[in-house]
Amino acid sequence: MAALLEAERVSFTYPDGTQALQHVTLSIPEGKKIAVLGPNGAGKSTLFLHFNGILRPQEGCIYFAGARINYSHKALTDLRQQVGIVFQDPDSMLFSASVRQEISFGPLNLGLSREEVGQRVEAAMAATGITGLQDKPTHFLSYGQKKRVAIASVLAMEPRLIIFDEPTAYLDPRSTRDVMALLEDISRQGKAIILSTHDVDIAYTWADYIYVLAGGQVIGAGTPAEIFSDATLLEAAGLARPWLLDVYEDLKNKGWLPATAPVPKNKDDLLGLIPYRSRSKLAI
Ligand SMILES: Nc1ncnc2c1ncn2[C@@H]1O[C@H](COP(=O)(O)OP(=O)(O)O)[C@@H](O)[C@H]1O
Ligand SMILES: [Mg+2]
Repeated sequence: MAALLEAERVSFTYPDGTQALQHVTLSIPEGKKIAVLGPNGAGKSTLFLHFNGILRPQEGCIYFAGARINYSHKALTDLRQQVGIVFQDPDSMLFSASVRQEISFGPLNLGLSREEVGQRVEAAMAATGITGLQDKPTHFLSYGQKKRVAIASVLAMEPRLIIFDEPTAYLDPRSTRDVMALLEDISRQGKAIILSTHDVDIAYTWADYIYVLAGGQVIGAGTPAEIFSDATLLEAAGLARPWLLDVYEDLKNKGWLPATAPVPKNKDDLLGLIPYRSRSKLAI
């Protein structure tokens, strides 16, 4: 599959001397779900700021759709329409008087007709479940509502790649479920998604492919099954194993699952592995 976005040996040091990225090489295919997994301070947000040209690599380069990123004003405007970032802190993204104005801002700047902007804004509000909030001032919204508005304002730009920087941080369980369901919908529309997280359960169940970042370097890359079967890698990155794999291993060790049981991808897969007879015994 062709790469939509690539980083080639990207290094970046902040002005205070913090080396945030060191020779980071990775590739984001069109239409796939990619997780960047790593502890706080690993360099995830710094990497993402390179993906839409807010930061410029001091070494190495970034390619989008096969071409090296051009940092002229015009090229960056085009790039930012194609690569949308939902920042971790929604307050850093919201500045308009009302929800509707906030979401309209980007599409209006693209020079689209009022009608086209209206359609995009309606669709983005419907997708994020905030249609009822359209006239509310953004500063009166709850954290979870602000997050939805931030996502809607990126969706309304209709980018090819959407980056979610720790989208579930500080959300309650229900909002977390809603955001992950929304990401699933967006992915089904064929868009590429990058998500950063230190939540191993989310990365394991959600991602098609995972890059593990620690200390500004890519220290692992692979499918979720590959990443989470590598104990040395998890230890080096300070990451735990997903609960699903822990329970699966425990059930196998206790003889409640055959040694040949396929590795489950989600809770339903795991429940489906438990033989009918033991399930009915458990129910009594
Ligand atoms: N504006 C900044 N100035 C100086 N250092 C920074 C800045 N932003 C981030 N850093 C440092 O760069 C490193 C990577 O940070 P960051 O990209 O935010 O990691 P993550 O998103 O994985 O938590 C950390 O050591 C952090 O302290
Ligand atoms: Mg971050």
